[in-house]
Amino acid sequence: MNTIVVKDYNELSKMAASIVAEQITAKPECVLGLATGSTPLGMYRELVKKCSEQKLSFSGVRTFNLDEYIGLSKNNENSYYYYMMKNLFEHIDIKTENIHIPDGSAVDVDEECVKYENAINASGGIDLQVLGIGKNGHIGFNEPDLYFEAATHKVRLDSETIQANSRFFPNSDQVPRYAVSMGVKTIMKAKRILLLASSGEKAEALYKALAGPITPDVPASILQVHQDVVVLADESAYCMFRKKGA
Ligand code: PGA
Repeated sequence: MNTIVVKDYNELSKMAASIVAEQITAKPECVLGLATGSTPLGMYRELVKKCSEQKLSFSGVRTFNLDEYIGLSKNNENSYYYYMMKNLFEHIDIKTENIHIPDGSAVDVDEECVKYENAINASGGIDLQVLGIGKNGHIGFNEPDLYFEAATHKVRLDSETIQANSRFFPNSDQVPRYAVSMGVKTIMKAKRILLLASSGEKAEALYKALAGPITPDVPASILQVHQDVVVLADESAYCMFRKKGA
């Protein structure tokens, strides 16, 4: 595991965008796994900038997003489809047919999960998967559990996740209770993983994920056994390692 600690969120965003850009430059037809949430917003802003300055092209890139809420339509402002369009896809030269986000309004969710997993496999697999980390240690919407969930699946969101994500909704009652998420095995099959962690809110989860036991109770801890993970953290998120002298 390669851990890079940077000063603050701004540096994290720039460094994350550089890592993604290097991947695209090295393999213009690469497959990217993408994340939503607050953390990657700065990275997307930097990628849009690189694209508008014509330093980067997404014309050959295919993308698969980690997850989507069940029950929100694509044009609902809180859907991850909407988030990705507004924060990245509308501003870059990616081909629409190369964008994949689980369909949270699918009538048959189980079928949608199988289709999504098959599409990832058919693409040849994810070259670089970007991940955030939840305060509860989740990756994608793989919540703390008794076992690691393997493939793309329907998830019941954890109360901590509902609470954390309620900041985007008028109130917590409106946060969907279910989502579709890539599984832990899906994520682990990515050739390379970039885990982003920013702010002191993530310090404990990051410490447990990287320095604690590997357990489904901290889903991100599985990353300890992946052969190519870059952890990109800012000082606030990394502070527990400093305190423990690790
Ligand atoms: P955040 O979410 O980037 O909004 O903190 C990360 C996550 O829950 O995976």
